[in-house]
Amino acid sequence: ALKTQIANFHFDNCLMNGSGIYCSERESLAKIDQSAAGTFITKTATLEKRLGNPKPRYFKFQIGSINSFGLPNLGIDYYLDALADFQAKNPEKTYFLSVAEMSAEKIYQVLKIVQASDFPGLIELNLSCPNIAGKGQLAYDFDSTDRLLGEIFTWFNKPLGIKLPPYFDPSHFDQMAEIINKYPLVFVNAINSIGNGLVIQGQKTAIKPQHGLGGLGGSIAKPTALANVHAWFTRLRPDIAIIGTGGVSSGQDAFEHILCGASMVQVATALGHQGPDIFARISQKLESIMADYGYHDISDFRGKLQYR
Ligand code: DHB
Repeated sequence: ALKTQIANFHFDNCLMNGSGIYCSERESLAKIDQSAAGTFITKTATLEKRLGNPKPRYFKFQIGSINSFGLPNLGIDYYLDALADFQAKNPEKTYFLSVAEMSAEKIYQVLKIVQASDFPGLIELNLSCPNIAGKGQLAYDFDSTDRLLGEIFTWFNKPLGIKLPPYFDPSHFDQMAEIINKYPLVFVNAINSIGNGLVIQGQKTAIKPQHGLGGLGGSIAKPTALANVHAWFTRLRPDIAIIGTGGVSSGQDAFEHILCGASMVQVATALGHQGPDIFARISQKLESIMADYGYHDISDFRGKLQYR
């Protein structure tokens, strides 16, 4: 079976969407809710509704995708209302809410709204949006991340995780792990898109914002994602669950993320291209790969990557 858990929250299926894909309004969320996925996460919500960056802001190519949406979303109140309705219909199910803001003060504000709400699920703080002009990815600033989490955990008491960007240097994993391990985070999600790539069509940038720069996802992200998932698995406290995201479109991809240490696996670019039926397809293939190896549950092989 594909059941899994994060802290004391249980899921029938370890697959779900990655934030940003199929999750901006109630209708899309409902489709994932009714699919084989174990749950859904919302589009990253900010204090107010945002329209995002000018179009074109998404482009799909052979082996991946580039995006610079710029955090278009309907605002925190919309997602909290929607979640309350889904929760009322499925009292036993755990949902994820994604939030972000552009400054520490505004992050506190949005988290205070979540804290004051009845939302009983898991909260993902997105520290890694690459697409806001003039704002670096927060999680690339270790001291700011440390200060931010330090402040948040003086008052925030709902189950919180963070969405991280990819890192590319073992010393960065070491430094960030030392910070993360100080706080009662319940999960880390790795990775967000690989920031600030450039894709060209003819002589023009494929997307419009910021001279064509955008976050890369899809198959090309998988090796980086697996390296990050395994880096966190080997460094973080065992009670911090890892969500694996990046380059998942098949049962084999999901199997590899779990082997690297993921307790849950998110599907993003491929979900955007194939729609929510992808969850049933990946589930079936993942179960058959597990059966071939003699595994019954994902806990039988999670993190058990073998080294040559
Ligand atoms: C957007 C992209 C991201 O990778 C992210 O983490 C948040 C928002 C976006 O452009 O909307």
